[in-house]
Amino acid sequence: MQLLDGKFLSQQIKQEIAAEVAEIKAAGGKIPHLVAILVGSAGRSETYVASKMKNCEEVGMKSTLFRFDETVSEQELLDKVREVNDNPDMDGLIVQLPLPEHISADKVMETIHPAKDVDGFHPTNIGRMAKGLPAYISATPQGILEMLKRYEIETSGKHCVVVGRSQIVGLPMSILMQRNTYPGNCTVTLTHSKTRNLADICRTADILIAALGRPEFITAGMVKEGAVVIDVGLEKVPDPSKKSGFALKGDVKFDEVAPKAAYITPVPGGVGLMTISSLMQNTLKSARREIYP
Ligand code: GUN
Repeated sequence: MQLLDGKFLSQQIKQEIAAEVAEIKAAGGKIPHLVAILVGSAGRSETYVASKMKNCEEVGMKSTLFRFDETVSEQELLDKVREVNDNPDMDGLIVQLPLPEHISADKVMETIHPAKDVDGFHPTNIGRMAKGLPAYISATPQGILEMLKRYEIETSGKHCVVVGRSQIVGLPMSILMQRNTYPGNCTVTLTHSKTRNLADICRTADILIAALGRPEFITAGMVKEGAVVIDVGLEKVPDPSKKSGFALKGDVKFDEVAPKAAYITPVPGGVGLMTISSLMQNTLKSARREIYP
């Protein structure tokens, strides 16, 4: 069993990005600039956004955070999105999800200009990705592709089972893994809460991507010997043995699955860290006008 080390890879990617940003600066170019919009301060959004901003600064990029109260109107939020769209200094924009119920996340995503949509959530980017055209790919799926690539894991002809059909991870992952490229060329099965015989299907996976958001759902009995196991889950679960009273768990029961797997991502230290480095890669692409020249 080999660990897919997200900590190591994300550091490597950050160093590559920092070197590119330094080159841009040395040539007198414009510093890449990521903007985040955060509404309210509930849940983990606050931590995630702070980490995104901190990582940008670490690689020499500019970052701006616009904060709004939970009670902000949809109109006010859309106005801010348009303001960022029109600002040539701002290369990428993310609006942290989830949003309060009175705001349509779809409307907000559709208002972000596709060329600044470094989260890859705009229908234009999702459509272009599905067609295999240059597009921003959402950060977690892109981080997983990067992991498969950097560990040179063979994917062609393999059976890839994705558990979970979220718009952010499961759905794009299933599209990406079937594409006629590397990583890709898999036969893909996308499973979800209504799937029958889920355990049987998972046991046929050469590559198993767990993104359903249920701690330790995937057990050893659901995994084939020698499978590649990618765990996208990250949940806080009560653990009285820990000082904090909590432990971080993925969607995979790591201790029993790891001995069966050829490769597996740890939680924490796996996919999560790749997500942030992918977002910065996208911001750099945006500053370079690589996707939308
Ligand atoms: N909420 C959870 N994951 C994400 C993400 O990748 N981007 C945004 N904008 N919100 C999220």
